[in-house]
Amino acid sequence: MGYAETYAAWKADPDGWWLKQAAALDWSKAPTQGYDAATNTWFADAMGNTAWNCVDRHVAAGHGERVAIIHDSPVTGTKTKITYAELQDRVARMAGVLHAQGVLKGDRVVIYMPMVPEALVAMLACARIGAVHSVVFGGFAARELAVRIDDCKPRAVIAGSCGIEPGRVVHYKPLLDEAIVLAEHKPEACLILQREAGEADLVPGRDFDLADEMSRAVPADCVPVKGSDPAYILYTSGTTGQPKGVVRPMAGHMVALHWTMKNIYGVEAGDVYWAASDVGWVVGHSYICYAPLLAGCTTIVFEGKPVGTPDAGTFWRVISEHKVKSFFTAPTAFRAIKREDPKGEEAKKYYLSGLQALFFAGERADPDTVNWAGDVLGVPVIDHWWQTETGYAIAANPFGMDALPIKVGSPSVAMPGYDVRILSPEGEEMPAGELGAVAIKLPLPPGTLPTLWDADARFRKSYLDTFPGYYETGDAGLIDADGYLFIMARTDDVINVAGHRLSTGAMEEVLAGHPDVAECAVIGAADPLKGQLPVGFLCLSKGVNRPEEEIVAECVARVRHEIGPVAAFKSAVVVDRLPKTRSGKILRAIMARIADGQDYKMPATIDDPVILEEIGSALSRIGYPAAR
Ligand code: COA
Ligand code: AMP
Repeated sequence: MGYAETYAAWKADPDGWWLKQAAALDWSKAPTQGYDAATNTWFADAMGNTAWNCVDRHVAAGHGERVAIIHDSPVTGTKTKITYAELQDRVARMAGVLHAQGVLKGDRVVIYMPMVPEALVAMLACARIGAVHSVVFGGFAARELAVRIDDCKPRAVIAGSCGIEPGRVVHYKPLLDEAIVLAEHKPEACLILQREAGEADLVPGRDFDLADEMSRAVPADCVPVKGSDPAYILYTSGTTGQPKGVVRPMAGHMVALHWTMKNIYGVEAGDVYWAASDVGWVVGHSYICYAPLLAGCTTIVFEGKPVGTPDAGTFWRVISEHKVKSFFTAPTAFRAIKREDPKGEEAKKYYLSGLQALFFAGERADPDTVNWAGDVLGVPVIDHWWQTETGYAIAANPFGMDALPIKVGSPSVAMPGYDVRILSPEGEEMPAGELGAVAIKLPLPPGTLPTLWDADARFRKSYLDTFPGYYETGDAGLIDADGYLFIMARTDDVINVAGHRLSTGAMEEVLAGHPDVAECAVIGAADPLKGQLPVGFLCLSKGVNRPEEEIVAECVARVRHEIGPVAAFKSAVVVDRLPKTRSGKILRAIMARIADGQDYKMPATIDDPVILEEIGSALSRIGYPAAR
């Protein structure tokens, strides 16, 4: 069946269509119903286990010797392969370690780890016993970790002693210690993976050496959980400093991800699949850990960067050496490679003909990067659009089912499960080709968020209240006459830096905490490498008379310390006042247009238009608009 027939079949009978997809997996009790309005989840009456389906199922089918994980780590100079049988043993042992620490079904476990196979083992170990993991990206600092610990209240934490960034070791354990001091909730146990590059001191009675514990663990069996039970919580940026805890229900997650592997990515059991992201992001959850393993593929855990580890040919080496068939990353990674190797000379050194397609997501795929990648690799470059909230593609080109013509600049068409509409501010549907808010008709498909952790009212307010009957994506865009979607911008104060979703509100909260800052604003300014970079505007308290550079440097250090290096907050400027509407709303979108050198329309409600000129001259002092 092609895309049009498949989409129509789903639309005609969503419950029946998804139940058919669910039959591809193993269940302790197979689902008999599709969408369940009471829990806002799918397959709520099913019982099953994600770790069983990712690991044990393949071993039971006689594929124990197949490689499940390849850890390729240029930063440590090591490469390791783990078979499905070995993975089963490790997951069962780590699950046993969690049990021994009193972690039971429904308990939360925070995972704070670099790109090592143990991160996946930890996720699967939680799934095995029905515990709910929450992975925190290593680039977040102690305060962000503390906020997440307080929100999901983990019984245990599994952490690496350190991560390795090019040129420096990031010691995770002191950050974890600081987070536990900052947090009100105190986890009972911390299981630490000691790494050679930086071993950590352990707190007696609270901290345990993970390897020691695993060597003496009693392996734990898979525990069946309900279809509607949460598989994990993943925090993502909203408009405030408090991140949103996206809840992922067990059954829908498995079914939807499993479907995508064949139909979107075009891979099957035994194929090698690589998502160059990080387990701390949704791409890492779905496409480094769960989906490739559900499909019986070999997944690559890459601990390195697209450039500098050691050079701009690293990605091509990994693709050729491990025979990668399907490759997924963010466009920013390709922009980094292109900057170092504009002619793509490095790619010529490797045998890449096993690669079938390249997939981009995480940020807008700009035509220059898409075209360059296509020229260098000679494979289709497929943009697809999704969010932490959905867990997999809302719109894509279903390459594995029926490769549709590619329109550069568009993530193509809605996937089965998603009825995407473009709405006016009043909630009216916009004609083809006209810009509006991108919304999805409810109910959302399997695997998408049913709520936010411990914040159902916030869930409704953030996603459901604006357009009754629809999920509000927070993106603006259009659908053309052929049904192709174009995603143009965010409608909120979320920015996208190197494919990482960040909250300007969170940065503003940190800046506002500086004793000399009376008021502030953060915007995302266009950046040729990272897509966007944050820029801060600081209004100082009356009487402050210190050099501007000193205050700016302190603010930069503050954001790095409190949010983390991932915020990439490096520039700020002092201004006398901020442009606002008469009702007091800061005009961030216009400030961003000024930073990007774009025209803007003077809002009728602006308090004092002269302030925009002041913003322009302040920006020019720090090099904006940048020459491109
Ligand atoms: N632990 C600790 N620190 C981390 C980290 C981690 N896991 N990941 C990143 N950081 C640090 C970096 O070292 C950097 O620190 P610096 O300011 O001291 O240089 C900072 O956070 C910003 O990181 P990043 O945004 O990744 O920038 P970069 O300059 O190191 O690399 C790219 C830029 C484009 C090469 C890189 O972002 C990349 O490969 N991105 C594409 C893939 C991806 O991960 N996308 C995510 C969603 S799909
Ligand atoms: P995240 O939740 O971190 O995956 O970020 C999701 C947001 O990233 C989306 O709401 C978009 O704003 C942006 N995004 C992700 N993929 C794309 C894409 N293919 N094209 C345009 N924007 C994208």
